[in-house]
Amino acid sequence: MRVLVTGAAGSVGRTLVAGLAAAGHEVVGLDLLPDPAGATTWHVADCTDADAVHEAVGAQPLDAVVHLAGDPGETSLPEALSGHVVSTGALLDAMLAHGVGRMVYASSNHAVGRHPRAELTDGVLTVDVRVRPDTFYGVGKVAAESLLSLYADRYGLDVLACRIGSFEEHPTTVRHLSTWLSPDDCIRMVHACLVAPAPGYAVLHGISANTRAWWDLEPGRRLGYEPADDAEDYAADVERREADDAEGAVVGGPTTFGDLERPALDRLPS
Ligand SMILES: NC(=O)c1ccc[n+]([C@@H]2O[C@H](COP(=O)([O-])OP(=O)(O)OC[C@H]3O[C@@H](n4cnc5c(N)ncnc54)[C@H](O)[C@@H]3O)[C@@H](O)[C@H]2O)c1
Repeated sequence: MRVLVTGAAGSVGRTLVAGLAAAGHEVVGLDLLPDPAGATTWHVADCTDADAVHEAVGAQPLDAVVHLAGDPGETSLPEALSGHVVSTGALLDAMLAHGVGRMVYASSNHAVGRHPRAELTDGVLTVDVRVRPDTFYGVGKVAAESLLSLYADRYGLDVLACRIGSFEEHPTTVRHLSTWLSPDDCIRMVHACLVAPAPGYAVLHGISANTRAWWDLEPGRRLGYEPADDAEDYAADVERREADDAEGAVVGGPTTFGDLERPALDRLPS
């Protein structure tokens, strides 16, 4: 398949550009930044700029878009809405205009980050819990998922929201032993999302087959995502910290503790 990867210069993007190409896909990159490897067909563009996105999506025939672009950290509410929702809307409109039928979206556990594990049935996080963002970043991901749902219903697009846990080379905290997504499993997950027959609107958890996982992997498996890595292989190297129990007690971990709290809108002093 020919696939446009947005945010292609980022940490997930660099992994997917190489990994999807190795899996036989023809990859086109898009980012605010130039191609770090200099080896891929590439568009330097801002995903919040509808004209630039329209041009980049229409520059070559595409089978799918993998939308990763966006700041993975906490921002102001307007920045979160622009970076995650406006960008997604611009891409969806461009896909409709150019006949591209599928988007794989990098959503996040922070869309449901405020769920305490102790309140979940059998302590397992399913993909159908109510949205419960832990940050403005999480609010952005919730709203982007809503937009995907709207475009799936209204226009019949196939859209898959991967609620990614912790994408890291190796797990480095006790929380990661549950939430880790290995680079190879990230490639397996996105490949499965690209080739799953007629998924419609789907949500899955983006984590590896971690022994300590408590986020349901079945929605991904039903789509053909069979994770192969396990954070437990690195458990002996992970240093224990005082914050581990608190981080492990809630889906979003450290981002739920309050030090990211700020007003939704910064006002000028009166
Ligand atoms: N890394 C994780 O553990 C994790 C977990 C959950 C979700 N995610 C999501 O996965 C995606 C990728 O995360 P990452 O860790 O690779 O982040 P990253 O910061 O390493 O990469 C993001 C890339 O997007 C680009 N970008 C940002 N805004 C853009 C715009 N408006 N137009 C074009 N390019 C833009 C940046 O230049 C950067 O190259 C993000 O959407 C993030 O929210 C990541």
